[in-house]
Amino acid sequence: MSSAALSTVAPDSPELADTAAAWRSAYVHIPFCRRRCPYCDFAVVTPEEGGTAPTVDRYVAAVAAEIAGAEPWRPLDAVNFGGGTPSSTAPGDITRLIRALRDRFGLAGAAEVSLEANPEDWSDEIGAAYLDGGVTRVTLGVQSLDDGVLGSLGRVHVGEQAVSAVASARRSGVPSVGIDLMYGAPGESLDSWRATVTKALALGVDHVSAYALTVEPGTALASAVTAGAPGPDPDDQADKYELFDALAAGAGLIRYEVSNWARPGHVCRYNLSTWAQGEYAAFGLGAHGHRGGRRTRNARVLDVYLDRVESASSPQVAVEEVAGWSREQERLMVGLRRAAGVVAGWGGEILAGSEEGKRLIAAGVLELRAGRLVVSRPLLTDEVVRAVLALKEPQGGGRAWLSLSPRDC
Ligand SMILES: C[S@@+](CC[C@H](N)C(=O)[O-])C[C@H]1O[C@@H](n2cnc3c(N)ncnc32)[C@H](O)[C@@H]1O
Ligand code: SF4
Repeated sequence: MSSAALSTVAPDSPELADTAAAWRSAYVHIPFCRRRCPYCDFAVVTPEEGGTAPTVDRYVAAVAAEIAGAEPWRPLDAVNFGGGTPSSTAPGDITRLIRALRDRFGLAGAAEVSLEANPEDWSDEIGAAYLDGGVTRVTLGVQSLDDGVLGSLGRVHVGEQAVSAVASARRSGVPSVGIDLMYGAPGESLDSWRATVTKALALGVDHVSAYALTVEPGTALASAVTAGAPGPDPDDQADKYELFDALAAGAGLIRYEVSNWARPGHVCRYNLSTWAQGEYAAFGLGAHGHRGGRRTRNARVLDVYLDRVESASSPQVAVEEVAGWSREQERLMVGLRRAAGVVAGWGGEILAGSEEGKRLIAAGVLELRAGRLVVSRPLLTDEVVRAVLALKEPQGGGRAWLSLSPRDC
């Protein structure tokens, strides 16, 4: 698909969804955060946990070295700086890593270079520096515009800061500006969510990811809920999802994945590629990659990651061969998250012919449309994914993580 077509194609186009399988991408993890939010289970390092300036410098040098030592590839179509909080490092660090990627792989003509940023880090100068360094797409972690909700989520910023950051990102000239929102925090009313969404959509963003707050095992939120604090309510979250979907459609945003909405030309290409089982190299702490039919996972403990890279060893601690039935099951599970659905293929035939598949089709949850399987009620996607997971393997094959190191890496 040409870059002209990419800039106008509908986000939920089946052709776009399928084309993304051929893209080549890179994920770069920046783990540093000012503090750990109570609900977060990403690979994060706070200043108290050793994430101070000298360590950040050491880390950026290690990631640059990891990139320089990677097997060459063809030029990248998409790059994603995720976290943690990529905006917690100096823009010069991001520029250095973009340069390392360009030197090692090259960047395709209209390559997407995407970065997650927190509102409290943003300024006009930082936006200009990202643009200069080659960033083409920014996602601001707004989460809510209600200060009470932001407080209950343990966030550092307030709503007005988020509004100013989005306006500044727009002024910076970064071609694509998106936001992340989260719904269902303890104490968030439907009216609060409606006000957040209405105000956020009025900012004219190009992309929104709206996530239901999830209680992840091992987090402070999980401990609080276990101790009797109120957790997210699934019915409340379903109402908020439907409200968001209706308001987003009214603002010209098209849903292209369960939790992602965009204007034409503003999909996240990196994410689209992962949902199409495309290949991506991964760099940094705890980063997961997919190249040459193998999924890899880097060390998640900072000292282990740094020691390995600095001693010219691979930071990968696990490798998974993805082939045969497990590959087909995965193709369906990730592909069904998209509004465009997935080419049914042999796995889809097995699903449609299974007892659970027939029940889901009869209930109008799953549809067969022109050779594709599509989930027509996105809130029930997890139910369909469970049905795919429960399918019996037709013959041999399977998936196995080949552990290269102890689990605590
Ligand atoms: C990897 S986080 C990092 C981005 C950035 N540090 C931030 O917090 O905005 C990306 C997004 O995941 C979402 N997220 C993180 N933990 C979550 C949870 N437990 N439940 C739902 N969404 C979550 C948030 O919306 C967040 O913006
Ligand atoms: S949600 Fe974002 S800011 Fe909060 S700890 Fe996780 S990565 Fe860091």
